Amino acid sequence: MKGILIYRGKYGATQQYATWIGAETKLSVKEIHECGEDDFVNNDFFVIGTSVYMGMLGIKEWMKANLDFLTGKKIFLFVVCGTPSGEGEYIRSSVPERIREQCTIWFLPGRLNYKKISWMDKFVLRIGSIFAGNSKEKKRRLYGFDDVKRENISAIVKDIKEFTGKREVAPVL
Ligand SMILES: Cc1cc2nc3c(=O)[nH]c(=O)nc-3n(C[C@H](O)[C@H](O)[C@H](O)COP(=O)(O)O)c2cc1C
Repeated sequence: MKGILIYRGKYGATQQYATWIGAETKLSVKEIHECGEDDFVNNDFFVIGTSVYMGMLGIKEWMKANLDFLTGKKIFLFVVCGTPSGEGEYIRSSVPERIREQCTIWFLPGRLNYKKISWMDKFVLRIGSIFAGNSKEKKRRLYGFDDVKRENISAIVKDIKEFTGKREVAPVL
């Protein structure tokens, strides 16, 4: 079983998880723009990483554009975000229905560093904080947070290893 890890992030949280997962699973890691047709044809499964912006997965358009390549293949999808309560909606709005059943999905806690983000993103967050329900969520949007930790990848790494291990030793019937 050959696999590859493909990701799209913006400020480094998804990239950090991708690097850690790649190191633990020995998969090669590519950002979406480094990916070509060969990467689809030569791999049996995909680990796909993405962050969430305004309720949408950053990888949405890429998944749509490459739907034919992804259809029928196993996908481990990790979603890096700040507000896990939107989980169901993020998937419904961004993962094409045709491949949803093939995906095993993890939500990994992200990071928001005000020193790094664009003025436009700051503006969006300030507006969002006005509508944020509770004061904890307001604070996170206004002052940032960092929940990116290596231990967060243990479940997804275990699953990927089980998947590849299982297939490698499966008897030919
Ligand atoms: C403008 C903006 C909008 C965001 N919108 C969401 C959102 O709708 N839901 C969510 O859970 N997190 C949201 N986040 C948090 C990001 O998903 C989080 O910071 C993530 O770690 C970013 O990962 P990246 O650095 O790999 O892009 C938003 C962050 C910014 C800056």
